Amino acid sequence: PSTNTEMKKRIANNREELADGDAIFAEIQTAGRGRHGRTWLAPVGGSLTFSMYWSFPDGYQSMAGLSLLVGLAVCDALKEFGVNDAELKWPNDIYLQGKKLAGVLIEVEGQIGATAHCVIGIGLNVCVPDNQYDVGQPHSDLASFLGTVPDRNELAAQIIKSLWSYLPKFTQQGFGPFVPHWEALDLYGDRRIVLQMGEKRFSGIDRGVDASGALLVETQDGITRFHGGEVSLRGN
Ligand code: ATP
Ligand code: BTN
Repeated sequence: PSTNTEMKKRIANNREELADGDAIFAEIQTAGRGRHGRTWLAPVGGSLTFSMYWSFPDGYQSMAGLSLLVGLAVCDALKEFGVNDAELKWPNDIYLQGKKLAGVLIEVEGQIGATAHCVIGIGLNVCVPDNQYDVGQPHSDLASFLGTVPDRNELAAQIIKSLWSYLPKFTQQGFGPFVPHWEALDLYGDRRIVLQMGEKRFSGIDRGVDASGALLVETQDGITRFHGGEVSLRGN
């Protein structure tokens, strides 16, 4: 149904068999998930969908900013395929030419002792033409952008390599050292945005993120911080 669901099951039932970096791939998911129970859609063979296991010995708190870090790793990996201008939409989306190219879904399958056991889920549109597939919002895909279909194994390898280059440092030092890199790719950096929290809306200027991955929004009252949880960001 979903590589995230499958990885969570393995953490719950066979955690001792898992090592950091282990990953599960699916050719198709029948219940691919986004945030807030939304659906992640992908045609057979057209998408890269996988989930990686990672453990955080210092617990949940040391995971703050993880979805932002994963977005950075995906953007870096894409550069190896000639995609230099992917951007990041806080807190978990990767955009290309103003449309959603990929999404990140971080889940925690319990904390045992001090250690948090985490699932990093990534869905990336490889060949999902916008004029053929309605996924609920405008989206982009690598094949349309590049004019050729990149090899999914090579893409996966590059993303995993990129995750391995960031995760050990992140696990020890948190998101702080990565803030400037993330802000350089911020889709809405220094632009007016609207945050939706249930029925409530909050608007201001996107002023980047702090060391915990919280979004900094400027209004005439100063800076307000927002954490990922229930907030959805839109341009204005
Ligand atoms: P936010 O993350 O800001 O709350 P979002 O619309 O990106 O907003 P997510 O939960 O991150 O919401 O992602 C799920 C949404 O992504 C779905 O509701 C759908 O609109 C969209 N979506 C589903 N499949 C795809 C896909 N293959 N490519 C791009 N977008 C998709
Ligand atoms: C989002 O944009 O909200 C996140 C989408 C994450 C989709 C990936 S596909 C692999 C993994 N398995 C899932 O069910 N979801 C993530």
